[in-house]
Amino acid sequence: MSCIQIKGGRPFRGEVLIQGSKNAALPIMAACVLVPGVTVLQNCPDISDVDCMCQILRCVGVEIRRQEDVLFLDASCITSHCLPEEYVTRMRSSVILTGAMLGRCREISLYYPGGCVIGDRPIDLHLRALEKLGACFAANGRSLTATAPALTGSRIRLPFPSVGATENVILAAVAAKGTTYVDGCATEPEIVALCEFLKGAGAKIGGIGSGSLVIEGTKRLSESCYRVEPDRIVAGTYLLGTLAAGGDVFLRGAPQSQMESVLEVSRRMGAELVLQKEGIRVVRTGELAGVGSIRTGVYPGFPTDLQSPMLVALCRATGESRLTETIFNGRLAVAAELNRMGAGIRVEGSDAYLSGPRQLTGCSVTARELRGGAALVLAGACARGMTKIENRQFIDRGYEDIVRDLQSLGVDIGDKTGF
Ligand code: UD1
Repeated sequence: MSCIQIKGGRPFRGEVLIQGSKNAALPIMAACVLVPGVTVLQNCPDISDVDCMCQILRCVGVEIRRQEDVLFLDASCITSHCLPEEYVTRMRSSVILTGAMLGRCREISLYYPGGCVIGDRPIDLHLRALEKLGACFAANGRSLTATAPALTGSRIRLPFPSVGATENVILAAVAAKGTTYVDGCATEPEIVALCEFLKGAGAKIGGIGSGSLVIEGTKRLSESCYRVEPDRIVAGTYLLGTLAAGGDVFLRGAPQSQMESVLEVSRRMGAELVLQKEGIRVVRTGELAGVGSIRTGVYPGFPTDLQSPMLVALCRATGESRLTETIFNGRLAVAAELNRMGAGIRVEGSDAYLSGPRQLTGCSVTARELRGGAALVLAGACARGMTKIENRQFIDRGYEDIVRDLQSLGVDIGDKTGF
Protein backbone atom coordinates (compact mmCIF):
# COMPACT_ATOMS: atom_id res chain seq x y z
CA MET A 1 0.00 0.00 0.00
CA SER A 2 1.49 3.32 -0.97
CA CYS A 3 1.20 6.50 1.03
CA ILE A 4 1.51 10.25 0.59
CA GLN A 5 3.58 12.57 2.78
CA ILE A 6 3.09 16.32 3.03
CA LYS A 7 4.92 19.06 4.83
CA GLY A 8 2.10 21.54 5.28
CA GLY A 9 1.84 25.26 5.61
CA ARG A 10 2.54 26.66 2.16
CA PRO A 11 -0.20 28.53 0.28
CA PHE A 12 -1.25 27.05 -3.09
CA ARG A 13 0.23 29.05 -5.98
CA GLY A 14 0.28 28.25 -9.67
CA GLU A 15 -1.80 26.48 -12.25
CA VAL A 16 -3.32 23.02 -12.48
CA LEU A 17 -4.92 21.40 -15.52
CA ILE A 18 -8.20 19.75 -14.59
CA GLN A 19 -8.39 16.12 -15.75
CA GLY A 20 -11.36 14.53 -17.54
CA SER A 21 -14.42 13.63 -15.47
CA LYS A 22 -14.53 10.21 -13.84
CA ASN A 23 -18.27 10.17 -13.41
CA ALA A 24 -18.83 11.13 -17.05
CA ALA A 25 -16.24 8.72 -18.48
CA LEU A 26 -17.42 5.56 -16.66
CA PRO A 27 -21.05 5.45 -17.89
CA ILE A 28 -19.94 6.42 -21.40
CA MET A 29 -17.49 3.51 -21.34
CA ALA A 30 -20.40 1.28 -20.33
CA ALA A 31 -22.47 2.76 -23.17
CA CYS A 32 -19.87 1.72 -25.73
CA VAL A 33 -21.17 -1.85 -25.27
CA LEU A 34 -24.24 -0.71 -27.23
CA VAL A 35 -22.11 0.29 -30.22
CA PRO A 36 -21.12 -2.62 -32.47
CA GLY A 37 -17.92 -0.89 -33.54
CA VAL A 38 -15.29 1.53 -32.26
CA THR A 39 -15.98 4.34 -29.79
CA VAL A 40 -13.28 6.96 -29.37
CA LEU A 41 -13.17 8.70 -25.99
CA GLN A 42 -10.91 11.72 -25.76
CA ASN A 43 -9.70 13.31 -22.52
CA CYS A 44 -10.42 10.08 -20.65
CA PRO A 45 -8.87 10.36 -17.17
CA ASP A 46 -5.99 8.02 -16.33
CA ILE A 47 -7.38 6.78 -13.00
CA SER A 48 -7.77 3.34 -11.47
CA ASP A 49 -11.59 3.32 -11.76
CA VAL A 50 -11.22 3.71 -15.53
CA ASP A 51 -8.65 0.86 -15.52
CA CYS A 52 -11.14 -1.25 -13.57
CA MET A 53 -13.92 -0.52 -16.08
CA CYS A 54 -11.49 -1.46 -18.90
CA GLN A 55 -10.83 -4.82 -17.22
CA ILE A 56 -14.55 -5.54 -16.93
CA LEU A 57 -15.21 -4.55 -20.54
CA ARG A 58 -12.31 -6.71 -21.76
CA CYS A 59 -13.86 -9.70 -19.99
CA VAL A 60 -17.04 -9.34 -22.07
CA GLY A 61 -15.09 -9.01 -25.30
CA VAL A 62 -14.47 -5.29 -25.78
CA GLU A 63 -11.03 -4.58 -27.23
CA ILE A 64 -9.49 -1.48 -25.64
CA ARG A 65 -6.40 0.52 -26.38
CA ARG A 66 -5.20 3.76 -24.81
CA GLN A 67 -3.10 6.33 -26.62
CA GLU A 68 -2.25 9.16 -24.22
CA ASP A 69 -5.62 10.58 -23.10
CA VAL A 70 -7.63 8.79 -25.81
CA LEU A 71 -9.39 5.44 -25.30
CA PHE A 72 -10.40 3.35 -28.30
CA LEU A 73 -13.10 0.86 -27.34
CA ASP A 74 -14.04 -1.74 -29.93
CA ALA A 75 -17.26 -3.54 -28.98
CA SER A 76 -17.76 -5.21 -32.40
CA CYS A 77 -17.93 -8.63 -30.72
CA ILE A 78 -19.40 -9.17 -27.27
CA THR A 79 -18.26 -12.67 -26.31
CA SER A 80 -19.62 -13.02 -22.77
CA HIS A 81 -22.42 -11.68 -20.62
CA CYS A 82 -20.68 -12.55 -17.34
CA LEU A 83 -18.95 -9.73 -15.48
CA PRO A 84 -15.86 -10.72 -13.46
CA GLU A 85 -16.41 -10.73 -9.69
CA GLU A 86 -12.94 -9.38 -8.91
CA TYR A 87 -13.54 -6.06 -10.68
CA VAL A 88 -17.30 -5.71 -10.27
CA THR A 89 -17.08 -5.87 -6.49
CA ARG A 90 -14.32 -3.27 -6.55
CA MET A 91 -16.31 -0.52 -8.20
CA ARG A 92 -19.88 0.67 -7.77
CA SER A 93 -20.14 1.99 -11.35
CA SER A 94 -19.98 -1.56 -12.68
CA VAL A 95 -23.74 -1.72 -12.03
CA ILE A 96 -24.24 0.69 -14.96
CA LEU A 97 -23.28 -2.14 -17.25
CA THR A 98 -26.60 -3.80 -16.45
CA GLY A 99 -28.61 -1.49 -18.70
CA ALA A 100 -25.98 -1.51 -21.43
CA MET A 101 -25.52 -5.31 -21.47
CA LEU A 102 -29.28 -5.92 -21.42
CA GLY A 103 -29.50 -3.52 -24.33
CA ARG A 104 -26.86 -5.35 -26.34
CA CYS A 105 -27.14 -9.02 -25.28
CA ARG A 106 -30.49 -9.15 -23.46
CA GLU A 107 -28.73 -10.84 -20.55
CA ILE A 108 -26.08 -10.21 -17.91
CA SER A 109 -24.59 -11.96 -14.89
CA LEU A 110 -22.93 -9.77 -12.31
CA TYR A 111 -22.21 -9.45 -8.62
CA TYR A 112 -23.57 -6.91 -6.23
CA PRO A 113 -21.29 -3.95 -6.92
CA GLY A 114 -18.73 -2.58 -4.50
CA GLY A 115 -17.27 0.92 -4.32
CA CYS A 116 -16.37 3.49 -1.72
CA VAL A 117 -17.42 2.86 1.87
CA ILE A 118 -19.56 5.97 2.22
CA GLY A 119 -22.81 4.50 3.48
CA ASP A 120 -25.65 2.31 2.24
CA ARG A 121 -25.58 1.90 -1.50
CA PRO A 122 -28.51 -0.31 -2.51
CA ILE A 123 -29.42 -0.87 -6.18
CA ASP A 124 -33.17 -1.33 -5.74
CA LEU A 125 -34.01 1.73 -7.88
CA HIS A 126 -31.90 0.35 -10.75
CA LEU A 127 -33.60 -3.04 -10.62
CA ARG A 128 -37.18 -1.73 -10.32
CA ALA A 129 -36.70 0.65 -13.25
CA LEU A 130 -35.13 -2.00 -15.48
CA GLU A 131 -37.95 -4.40 -14.61
CA LYS A 132 -40.36 -1.82 -16.02
CA LEU A 133 -38.55 -2.20 -19.34
CA GLY A 134 -38.97 -5.97 -19.25
CA ALA A 135 -35.90 -7.20 -17.34
CA CYS A 136 -36.20 -10.16 -14.93
CA PHE A 137 -33.68 -10.48 -12.13
CA ALA A 138 -32.67 -13.60 -10.19
CA ALA A 139 -30.41 -13.25 -7.18
CA ASN A 140 -28.18 -16.09 -6.09
CA GLY A 141 -26.17 -15.15 -3.02
CA ARG A 142 -23.86 -12.34 -4.05
CA SER A 143 -24.50 -12.78 -7.76
CA LEU A 144 -27.31 -11.50 -9.88
CA THR A 145 -28.58 -12.60 -13.27
CA ALA A 146 -30.81 -10.51 -15.48
CA THR A 147 -32.55 -11.40 -18.71
CA ALA A 148 -34.73 -9.30 -20.96
CA PRO A 149 -35.77 -11.28 -24.06
CA ALA A 150 -37.87 -8.28 -25.07
CA LEU A 151 -36.87 -4.83 -23.85
CA THR A 152 -39.87 -2.59 -24.36
CA GLY A 153 -40.36 1.13 -23.84
CA SER A 154 -42.39 2.06 -20.80
CA ARG A 155 -43.34 4.87 -18.39
CA ILE A 156 -41.00 5.04 -15.39
CA ARG A 157 -41.00 7.33 -12.39
CA LEU A 158 -37.87 7.21 -10.24
CA PRO A 159 -38.82 7.81 -6.58
CA PHE A 160 -35.40 9.45 -6.03
CA PRO A 161 -33.20 11.03 -8.74
CA SER A 162 -30.44 8.42 -8.48
CA VAL A 163 -27.57 9.14 -10.85
CA GLY A 164 -26.75 5.48 -11.50
CA ALA A 165 -30.38 4.37 -11.87
CA THR A 166 -31.04 7.18 -14.36
CA GLU A 167 -27.98 6.08 -16.35
CA ASN A 168 -29.09 2.44 -16.33
CA VAL A 169 -32.56 3.31 -17.57
CA ILE A 170 -31.17 5.50 -20.35
CA LEU A 171 -28.81 2.76 -21.50
CA ALA A 172 -31.50 0.09 -21.61
CA ALA A 173 -34.12 2.40 -23.11
CA VAL A 174 -32.02 3.45 -26.10
CA ALA A 175 -31.93 -0.23 -27.09
CA ALA A 176 -35.59 -0.99 -26.24
CA LYS A 177 -38.47 -1.28 -28.68
CA GLY A 178 -40.63 1.82 -28.59
CA THR A 179 -40.53 4.94 -26.46
CA THR A 180 -39.62 5.28 -22.77
CA TYR A 181 -40.76 8.22 -20.65
CA VAL A 182 -38.73 8.67 -17.47
CA ASP A 183 -39.71 11.14 -14.75
CA GLY A 184 -37.77 11.95 -11.61
CA CYS A 185 -34.41 11.63 -13.41
CA ALA A 186 -31.14 12.89 -12.01
CA THR A 187 -29.95 16.01 -13.83
CA GLU A 188 -26.25 15.89 -12.96
CA PRO A 189 -23.93 17.10 -15.77
CA GLU A 190 -22.69 13.53 -16.15
CA ILE A 191 -26.21 12.44 -17.20
CA VAL A 192 -26.21 15.19 -19.79
CA ALA A 193 -22.80 13.98 -20.99
CA LEU A 194 -24.08 10.41 -21.35
CA CYS A 195 -27.12 11.60 -23.33
CA GLU A 196 -24.98 13.79 -25.57
CA PHE A 197 -22.63 10.90 -26.25
CA LEU A 198 -25.55 8.60 -27.10
CA LYS A 199 -27.11 11.23 -29.34
CA GLY A 200 -23.80 11.54 -31.17
CA ALA A 201 -24.00 7.78 -31.76
CA GLY A 202 -27.52 8.06 -33.19
CA ALA A 203 -29.82 7.72 -30.14
CA LYS A 204 -32.99 9.79 -29.90
CA ILE A 205 -33.29 11.42 -26.49
CA GLY A 206 -35.47 14.40 -25.58
CA GLY A 207 -35.56 16.52 -22.42
CA ILE A 208 -31.79 16.31 -21.85
CA GLY A 209 -30.79 18.17 -18.68
CA SER A 210 -34.32 18.05 -17.24
CA GLY A 211 -35.93 15.63 -14.80
CA SER A 212 -38.06 14.12 -17.57
CA LEU A 213 -36.49 12.24 -20.44
CA VAL A 214 -38.13 10.81 -23.54
CA ILE A 215 -36.06 8.07 -25.13
CA GLU A 216 -36.94 6.47 -28.43
CA GLY A 217 -35.41 3.05 -28.94
CA THR A 218 -32.86 2.85 -31.75
CA LYS A 219 -32.00 -0.35 -33.60
CA ARG A 220 -28.29 0.27 -33.92
CA LEU A 221 -25.93 2.90 -32.56
CA SER A 222 -22.97 3.94 -34.67
CA GLU A 223 -19.30 4.59 -34.12
CA SER A 224 -18.52 8.03 -32.73
CA CYS A 225 -15.93 10.18 -31.04
CA TYR A 226 -16.61 12.05 -27.80
CA ARG A 227 -14.51 14.37 -25.65
CA VAL A 228 -14.97 13.89 -21.90
CA GLU A 229 -15.49 17.18 -20.10
CA PRO A 230 -13.20 18.31 -17.25
CA ASP A 231 -14.01 16.94 -13.80
CA ARG A 232 -16.08 19.35 -11.70
CA ILE A 233 -15.28 17.43 -8.51
CA VAL A 234 -11.51 17.49 -9.06
CA ALA A 235 -11.75 21.23 -9.87
CA GLY A 236 -13.84 21.73 -6.70
CA THR A 237 -11.32 19.79 -4.62
CA TYR A 238 -8.44 22.05 -5.67
CA LEU A 239 -10.61 25.15 -5.31
CA LEU A 240 -11.53 24.23 -1.74
CA GLY A 241 -7.89 23.33 -1.05
CA THR A 242 -6.90 26.85 -2.13
CA LEU A 243 -9.52 28.29 0.21
CA ALA A 244 -8.19 26.18 3.07
CA ALA A 245 -4.47 26.77 2.48
CA GLY A 246 -4.75 30.28 1.01
CA GLY A 247 -3.06 31.34 -2.23
CA ASP A 248 -3.67 32.11 -5.87
CA VAL A 249 -4.48 29.29 -8.28
CA PHE A 250 -5.66 28.97 -11.87
CA LEU A 251 -7.87 25.91 -12.41
CA ARG A 252 -7.38 25.41 -16.15
CA GLY A 253 -10.44 23.90 -17.80
CA ALA A 254 -12.62 23.98 -14.64
CA PRO A 255 -16.24 23.59 -15.86
CA GLN A 256 -17.60 26.72 -14.16
CA SER A 257 -21.19 26.38 -15.40
CA GLN A 258 -21.39 23.04 -13.54
CA MET A 259 -19.92 24.48 -10.34
CA GLU A 260 -22.41 27.21 -9.40
CA SER A 261 -23.15 25.98 -5.88
CA VAL A 262 -19.47 25.57 -4.97
CA LEU A 263 -18.57 28.95 -6.44
CA GLU A 264 -21.39 30.63 -4.54
CA VAL A 265 -20.29 29.16 -1.18
CA SER A 266 -16.65 29.99 -1.90
CA ARG A 267 -17.53 33.62 -2.54
CA ARG A 268 -19.50 33.74 0.70
CA MET A 269 -16.42 32.45 2.50
CA GLY A 270 -14.36 35.33 1.10
CA ALA A 271 -12.65 33.85 -1.96
CA GLU A 272 -12.05 36.08 -4.95
CA LEU A 273 -13.05 34.22 -8.11
CA VAL A 274 -12.21 35.31 -11.62
CA LEU A 275 -14.20 33.34 -14.18
CA GLN A 276 -12.40 33.15 -17.50
CA LYS A 277 -13.10 31.26 -20.70
CA GLU A 278 -10.13 28.97 -20.05
CA GLY A 279 -10.86 28.28 -16.39
CA ILE A 280 -11.26 29.75 -12.92
CA ARG A 281 -8.75 31.83 -10.99
CA VAL A 282 -9.24 31.54 -7.24
CA VAL A 283 -7.51 33.90 -4.82
CA ARG A 284 -7.71 33.66 -1.05
CA THR A 285 -5.50 36.04 0.86
CA GLY A 286 -7.62 37.36 3.74
CA GLU A 287 -9.56 35.56 6.43
CA LEU A 288 -12.04 32.84 5.52
CA ALA A 289 -15.57 33.25 6.84
CA GLY A 290 -17.74 30.41 8.14
CA VAL A 291 -20.89 29.73 6.13
CA GLY A 292 -23.56 29.28 8.76
CA SER A 293 -25.39 26.32 7.34
CA ILE A 294 -25.01 24.37 4.10
CA ARG A 295 -26.28 20.99 2.98
CA THR A 296 -25.33 18.62 0.22
CA GLY A 297 -27.99 17.92 -2.38
CA VAL A 298 -28.68 16.56 -5.80
CA TYR A 299 -27.56 18.75 -8.71
CA PRO A 300 -27.52 21.76 -8.81
CA GLY A 301 -27.13 21.56 -5.01
CA PHE A 302 -23.80 21.36 -3.23
CA PRO A 303 -22.22 18.04 -4.37
CA THR A 304 -21.89 15.30 -1.80
CA ASP A 305 -18.56 14.43 -3.45
CA LEU A 306 -17.18 17.77 -2.21
CA GLN A 307 -18.50 17.45 1.32
CA SER A 308 -15.23 16.10 2.74
CA PRO A 309 -12.97 18.71 1.07
CA MET A 310 -15.45 21.35 2.30
CA LEU A 311 -14.98 20.15 5.88
CA VAL A 312 -11.30 21.06 5.58
CA ALA A 313 -12.07 24.55 4.24
CA LEU A 314 -14.68 25.14 6.95
CA CYS A 315 -12.41 24.18 9.82
CA ARG A 316 -10.01 26.89 8.59
CA ALA A 317 -12.81 29.51 8.50
CA THR A 318 -13.62 31.94 11.27
CA GLY A 319 -16.92 31.33 13.03
CA GLU A 320 -19.50 28.60 13.23
CA SER A 321 -20.57 26.36 10.36
CA ARG A 322 -22.89 23.41 9.97
CA LEU A 323 -22.56 21.01 7.04
CA THR A 324 -25.40 18.53 6.54
CA GLU A 325 -24.95 15.40 4.43
CA THR A 326 -28.19 14.37 2.74
CA ILE A 327 -27.08 11.78 0.18
CA PHE A 328 -24.60 9.25 1.64
CA ASN A 329 -24.98 8.51 5.34
CA GLY A 330 -21.42 7.26 5.88
CA ARG A 331 -19.52 10.16 4.42
CA LEU A 332 -18.92 12.08 7.64
CA ALA A 333 -16.75 9.22 8.91
CA VAL A 334 -13.74 11.18 7.63
CA ALA A 335 -14.34 13.73 10.43
CA ALA A 336 -12.75 11.30 12.91
CA GLU A 337 -9.48 11.30 10.93
CA LEU A 338 -9.60 15.09 10.47
CA ASN A 339 -10.13 15.48 14.20
CA ARG A 340 -6.90 13.60 14.84
CA MET A 341 -5.27 16.56 13.08
CA GLY A 342 -7.16 19.05 15.24
CA ALA A 343 -10.18 19.89 13.06
CA GLY A 344 -12.55 19.88 16.03
CA ILE A 345 -15.55 18.61 14.02
CA ARG A 346 -18.57 17.47 16.04
CA VAL A 347 -20.76 14.99 14.18
CA GLU A 348 -24.38 14.44 15.17
CA GLY A 349 -26.24 12.14 12.81
CA SER A 350 -25.91 13.65 9.36
CA ASP A 351 -24.74 17.06 10.65
CA ALA A 352 -21.15 18.21 11.11
CA TYR A 353 -20.60 21.25 13.33
CA LEU A 354 -17.41 23.25 12.98
CA SER A 355 -16.02 26.19 14.86
CA GLY A 356 -12.91 27.84 13.46
CA PRO A 357 -10.36 28.79 12.61
CA ARG A 358 -8.47 25.70 13.68
CA GLN A 359 -4.74 25.19 13.34
CA LEU A 360 -4.30 21.66 11.98
CA THR A 361 -1.31 19.60 13.04
CA GLY A 362 0.27 16.91 10.89
CA CYS A 363 0.07 13.26 11.94
CA SER A 364 -0.44 9.84 10.37
CA VAL A 365 -3.95 9.34 9.00
CA THR A 366 -5.65 6.70 6.89
CA ALA A 367 -7.80 7.19 3.77
CA ARG A 368 -10.82 4.88 3.71
CA GLU A 369 -12.53 6.16 0.56
CA LEU A 370 -11.90 8.40 -2.42
CA ARG A 371 -13.16 11.89 -1.52
CA GLY A 372 -12.42 11.55 2.18
CA GLY A 373 -8.88 10.59 1.19
CA ALA A 374 -8.54 13.72 -0.95
CA ALA A 375 -9.77 15.79 2.00
CA LEU A 376 -7.01 14.33 4.19
CA VAL A 377 -4.46 15.44 1.58
CA LEU A 378 -5.86 18.98 1.65
CA ALA A 379 -5.77 18.94 5.44
CA GLY A 380 -2.14 17.83 5.35
CA ALA A 381 -1.31 20.72 3.03
CA CYS A 382 -2.72 23.17 5.60
CA ALA A 383 -1.29 21.50 8.68
CA ARG A 384 1.72 22.43 10.73
CA GLY A 385 4.41 19.76 10.35
CA MET A 386 4.35 16.45 8.53
CA THR A 387 1.24 14.46 7.57
CA LYS A 388 1.35 10.90 6.28
CA ILE A 389 -1.73 9.58 4.46
CA GLU A 390 -1.99 5.80 4.21
CA ASN A 391 -4.02 3.99 1.54
CA ARG A 392 -3.31 6.26 -1.39
CA GLN A 393 -5.00 3.71 -3.67
CA PHE A 394 -8.42 5.06 -2.70
CA ILE A 395 -7.45 8.53 -3.90
CA ASP A 396 -6.03 7.15 -7.15
CA ARG A 397 -9.51 5.86 -8.02
CA GLY A 398 -10.57 9.36 -8.98
CA TYR A 399 -7.50 11.65 -9.12
CA GLU A 400 -4.94 11.03 -11.88
CA ASP A 401 -2.09 12.12 -9.64
CA ILE A 402 -2.94 14.32 -6.68
CA VAL A 403 0.75 14.49 -5.75
CA ARG A 404 1.72 15.81 -9.20
CA ASP A 405 -1.15 18.32 -9.18
CA LEU A 406 -0.36 19.72 -5.74
CA GLN A 407 3.36 19.83 -6.48
CA SER A 408 2.50 22.06 -9.43
CA LEU A 409 0.82 24.37 -6.91
CA GLY A 410 3.97 24.55 -4.80
CA VAL A 411 2.90 22.10 -2.08
CA ASP A 412 5.73 20.16 -0.40
CA ILE A 413 4.24 16.72 -1.13
CA GLY A 414 5.52 13.38 -2.31
CA ASP A 415 4.82 9.69 -2.29
CA LYS A 416 6.80 7.54 0.07
CA THR A 417 9.63 6.94 -2.35
CA GLY A 418 9.64 10.33 -4.09
CA PHE A 419 9.47 12.61 -1.06
C1 UD1 B 1 -23.04 8.82 -8.34
C2 UD1 B 1 -21.59 9.22 -8.40
C3 UD1 B 1 -21.07 9.59 -7.02
C4 UD1 B 1 -21.94 10.66 -6.41
C5 UD1 B 1 -23.40 10.26 -6.46
C6 UD1 B 1 -24.35 11.37 -6.00
C7 UD1 B 1 -20.72 7.95 -10.25
C8 UD1 B 1 -19.82 6.87 -10.71
N1 UD1 B 1 -20.82 8.11 -8.93
O1 UD1 B 1 -23.13 7.66 -7.50
O2 UD1 B 1 -19.74 10.07 -7.16
O3 UD1 B 1 -21.57 10.86 -5.07
O4 UD1 B 1 -23.80 9.90 -7.81
O5 UD1 B 1 -24.13 12.51 -6.75
O6 UD1 B 1 -21.28 8.69 -11.04
N2 UD1 B 1 -29.95 4.86 -3.79
C9 UD1 B 1 -30.88 3.93 -3.37
N3 UD1 B 1 -31.21 2.92 -4.23
C10 UD1 B 1 -30.66 2.82 -5.47
C11 UD1 B 1 -29.71 3.79 -5.89
C12 UD1 B 1 -29.37 4.80 -5.02
O7 UD1 B 1 -31.39 3.99 -2.26
O8 UD1 B 1 -31.00 1.90 -6.21
C13 UD1 B 1 -29.55 5.95 -2.85
C14 UD1 B 1 -28.09 5.84 -2.44
O9 UD1 B 1 -27.93 4.97 -1.37
C15 UD1 B 1 -27.74 7.25 -2.08
C16 UD1 B 1 -28.59 8.07 -3.07
O10 UD1 B 1 -29.61 7.18 -3.53
O11 UD1 B 1 -28.17 7.54 -0.79
C17 UD1 B 1 -27.79 8.62 -4.23
O12 UD1 B 1 -27.24 7.59 -4.98
P1 UD1 B 1 -26.98 7.70 -6.55
O13 UD1 B 1 -27.46 9.02 -7.06
O14 UD1 B 1 -27.53 6.47 -7.19
O15 UD1 B 1 -25.39 7.68 -6.60
P2 UD1 B 1 -24.45 6.77 -7.50
O16 UD1 B 1 -24.98 6.67 -8.87
O17 UD1 B 1 -24.10 5.54 -6.76
